[in-house]
Amino acid sequence: MTPIPNRLIGADRLPHLLRQMPKAELHIHIEGSLEPELMFALAQRNGLNLTYADVSTLRQAYVFNDLQDFLNIYHAGTKVLRTEQDFYDMTWAYLRRAASDHVLHAEIFVDTQTHTGHGVTTDVVINGLHRACLDAQAQLGLSASLILCFLRNLSETEAFEALEQASPHLSKLVGIGLASSELGHPPEKFARVFAKARGLGLRLVAHAGEEGPPAYIWSALDALKVERIDHGVQAVQDPALMARLSRERIPLTVCPLSNLKLRVFQDLNHHNLGQLLDAGIVATINSDDPAYFGGYINENFTQTFAALGLTASHAYQLAFNSFEASFLEARAKQAMQDKLLEFFETSE
Ligand code: ADE
Ligand code: ZN
Repeated sequence: MTPIPNRLIGADRLPHLLRQMPKAELHIHIEGSLEPELMFALAQRNGLNLTYADVSTLRQAYVFNDLQDFLNIYHAGTKVLRTEQDFYDMTWAYLRRAASDHVLHAEIFVDTQTHTGHGVTTDVVINGLHRACLDAQAQLGLSASLILCFLRNLSETEAFEALEQASPHLSKLVGIGLASSELGHPPEKFARVFAKARGLGLRLVAHAGEEGPPAYIWSALDALKVERIDHGVQAVQDPALMARLSRERIPLTVCPLSNLKLRVFQDLNHHNLGQLLDAGIVATINSDDPAYFGGYINENFTQTFAALGLTASHAYQLAFNSFEASFLEARAKQAMQDKLLEFFETSE
C-alpha cells in the first residue's frame, strides 16, 4: 500500500506543490518536444526551408481535430533533424526542461522509423539521444532511458527491420513501444516482433485506448504482453478491463493536455483521470508531445488538478505511481519514492 502522508496541505499551496514535487515522466515522444524555435534553428543549420514563415505562424497551425491531424504536422517537423548533434540538442533541451519541472527520471520514446524514412540512420538517432541522457545524469542528476517505438501504420516486416537496426544499441534502450495512428491498426500485428524484443531483454509498452477501443488494450496485454499501457483512457468503457488493470497493477501513462488538444475529451473537466484513480488503477500524468500540446509535465499536473478538483493526496499518489510504473531497478525506485515522501512530509 502507498503510505499517504497525513499532513494537511492547503488548496492554495497545491500548484506550488505540484510543480516542486519529485516525479517521473514515462510518456514523452522526444520528437514532440521539438519547440518551433529549435525547429527553425535546425532548419537553418541544415539549409532546409520550412513551409511556415516564422515561429508564431507555425505555432498558430497547432490546432488539431484528432490524432491523425496532429501526426501529419508532427511528422513534417521531424524533417529538420539530420545529424547526431540535432538529436542531442533536441533531447538536451527536453531534459533541462524536465529537470526544472523536478522530474527525477524520464523514459523517452523515439520513432527511429520516422528518421530512417528520411535517410537518417538509427545509429545517428540513438547515439544523439543517448549522449544527452548521459549528460543529463552527470550534469542534472536526472536519470533517463530510451524506448524505441514501432510505427503501427507500417508493416510487421518494417518493425523487424527497425529492431535489427537498433540491435547494436540494445544496451542504450530500456524497451520497445508502439505509437502512431491507432484506429485501424490493432496491436496484434506486432505480436511476433514484440516477442522477439522480449527475448532480447527489452521491456514492453504500447499506446492503446487513446482513440481506439478497449479491445486494443486487451490485445496489447494479451498478444503483445506489454507491462504498461500508454494512454488507456478508453478502458473506462469496459468494467472487466478496469478490474483487470487495477488487479494486475498495469500502469496507464495518461496525458491530459494531449487528450484535450486531440479532442479525446472536449474539456479538461470531462477527463476521466479521477475515475481511473478511484478505480485503483496505477495512473500517471505525462506530457506526450509538449511542444505541440501547450505544456510540459508540470502544466499537465496544474491544469488537470484545477479542472478536476484533485487534492494533495492525489498528487502524492500520482507521483508515487510514476516511480512504481517506471522501469528503474528496485533500489533506484525506492530511493526516489523516499525522496517523494520526504518532500511531502517537509513541504509547507
Ligand atoms: N506519436 C506521438 N504522439 C503520439 C500520440 N499521442 N499517439 C500516438 N502516437 C504518437
Ligand atoms: Zn504518445
